Amino acid sequence: MPDESLLDLKAVTKRFGGVTALSSVSFEVSKGKIVSVIGPNGAGKTTLFNCISGVLRPEEGQIGFGLKKTRDSLVGCAPHEIARMGIARTFQNIRLFGQQTVLENILTGTYVRTEAGLLDAVWPWTRRAHQESHWAMDKAMRLMERLEIDALADRPAKALSYGQQRRVELARALASDPEMLLLDEPAAGLTVHERQALMDFLRALRQEGLTILLIEHDMKVVMPVSDWVVVLDHGAKIAEGTPDAVQRHPQVIEAYLGVAAL
Ligand SMILES: Nc1ncnc2c1ncn2[C@@H]1O[C@H](COP(=O)(O)OP(=O)(O)OP(=O)(O)O)[C@@H](O)[C@H]1O
Ligand SMILES: [Mg+2]
Repeated sequence: MPDESLLDLKAVTKRFGGVTALSSVSFEVSKGKIVSVIGPNGAGKTTLFNCISGVLRPEEGQIGFGLKKTRDSLVGCAPHEIARMGIARTFQNIRLFGQQTVLENILTGTYVRTEAGLLDAVWPWTRRAHQESHWAMDKAMRLMERLEIDALADRPAKALSYGQQRRVELARALASDPEMLLLDEPAAGLTVHERQALMDFLRALRQEGLTILLIEHDMKVVMPVSDWVVVLDHGAKIAEGTPDAVQRHPQVIEAYLGVAAL
């Protein structure tokens, strides 16, 4: 049986003034797979994530999410609606509430799944009530233990190391119980040991059925964990395939000329 696609991009185009950041990009992401998006700086990778997560609206094209029978169109939906549909993300530049504790940051992720909604996260009284909710606390605790940040639960996020902050962001994204996770350069700034732990963690998430779309520059991370790789260059898809096939693709080698890792 062929893989079922969970995300389906068709001819997605996004322009910023004269710059075409994405030029008619099409590809599918199969359910339960790790698909990586690679490409040089400015290739349009983060713009692609912004279009999928509703931060930006593409000028042209379609983005379908969900298995075929129940597929929704994401274009025109607000970020909180897309989050509720089951897509969570992390950011290239970590975006945590620095003054809030690790636990509070992760709890904000659970709001997506409650009736209260994300806006209530800013109201202290609702926030307190929510934090006392057994369900949300339990979820946050389990995620912190899993990511080995439980000892840091009461520390303000800004006091953490870079690698620890990345793990808090990951926990916050997972707290919304997503079906698909979008990770924008999750290995950037991590130590060799942290990178290995991240790769093991991504594989474990895949094993549990999560679908992951990963932007990553480090080919030592991309190649071993990915089931499929999509290559962007100057906003256009220049190749896609298995990690092995993509590494041997002449246009990919050309786009990466000077990048020793390939
Ligand atoms: N909000 C914006 N306004 C104007 N131009 C933008 C905006 N966001 C991105 N761009 C431009 O779109 C192009 C693609 O940028 P994008 O950030 O998507 O690249 P990227 O592949 O994520 O690069 P990097 O590897 O450096 O993160 C670049 O030319 C960038 O300058
Ligand atoms: Mg980027």
